[in-house]
This record gives sequence, C-alpha cells and structure tokens, in this order.
Amino acid sequence: MGHTKDIAHQIQEQTGGTLFEIKPAVLYSEDYDTTERQGRTETREGYRPMLAEQVTDLYSYDTILLGTPNWFNTMAPPVATFLADNDFAGKKIALFCTNGGGGLGHIVADIRTLCKDSEILDSLDIYEDGGSGAKAKISDWLKKNDLA
Ligand SMILES: Cc1cc2nc3c(=O)[nH]c(=O)nc-3n(C[C@H](O)[C@H](O)[C@H](O)COP(=O)(O)O)c2cc1C
Repeated sequence: MGHTKDIAHQIQEQTGGTLFEIKPAVLYSEDYDTTERQGRTETREGYRPMLAEQVTDLYSYDTILLGTPNWFNTMAPPVATFLADNDFAGKKIALFCTNGGGGLGHIVADIRTLCKDSEILDSLDIYEDGGSGAKAKISDWLKKNDLA
C-alpha cells in the first residue's frame, strides 16, 4: 500500500511539480482480499467512483504526470474517474504505474481512449515500491520526456 503515492513524492522531489492526490470519496478497504474483490468487479464493469476532491486548476498545467497502480491490467477506478471528469485536450500525459509484475497492462491504451486529444509521453513501469533503483529509473524517465 502507498507505492504509487511514494513514487509520486519521489517524482515531486526531482521535478518540483505540484502534487494532487486522486482519492475516492469512499476509501477502499485495508483488507487486501476485500479490495481485490471490489477492484475486480469495478474494473470489469468500468465503474467510476466519486472522488473526494476535484482538481480546480488543471488549466494552468500543460503536462500531467499521472500515477496509478495496475489493477487487473488497467488503471485503478478513481484514476479513470479523474480522466473522465476533466478535460485533458492539448495536454501531455506521462504515466507512471506501480504493479506486482504485470507492468503497464493496457493502461496506456485505456488512457488514449479517455483522453483522445492528449499527447501520451513515455511511461514509467515500477515494480511494487521500486526499491533502491526507483530514483534512477525516475530520473531516466524524466530525461526521456524532457522533464528533467
Ligand atoms: C485490486 C488489485 C488488483 C491488482 N491487479 C494487479 C494486476 O493485474 N497486475 C499487477 O501486476 N499487479 C496488480 N496489483 C498489485 C498492485 O498493482 C501493486 O501492488 C501496486 O504497487 C499497488 O500500488 P499502491 O500501493 O499505490 O496501491 C493489484 C492490486 C490490487 C489491490
């Protein structure tokens, strides 16, 4: 738990960017099996949970570094809500995804479906919390995207 948030903080340290946490109005259970069961149903049905907080100043950003855990090869449902509820036209999106070995799954294709008029930059795939190699992986990824 907290892998994606932790990577987001490491990215923020390297970029000085602004952090916004995508959080569902009703938090998922801390019990893994319960969340797994709920997540399986929600991703299969394309369910989009309400968010606890809306982003209000998206217009002032042209590049979004978007983080999500891999949930059944797609993004976590609150991230789908975030993409569907906001207008990313003309913006660049760089995905970072933490996962348990499944890599990016089909998340990039799913982002393209939700953000048809955005430019999708190079993505970062992190295994669980990324361990001691995370810092270097992040900095390589930022360089590739001209964000360093
Ligand atoms: C509901 C659920 C579904 C998951 N599905 C996958 C999966 O399909 N492939 C994968 O590699 N990891 C999967 N994982 C593992 C997470 O992607 C991985 O542990 C991630 O780093 C968790 O990020 P977090 O700590 O920010 O929640 C799943 C985890 C959960 C809770």
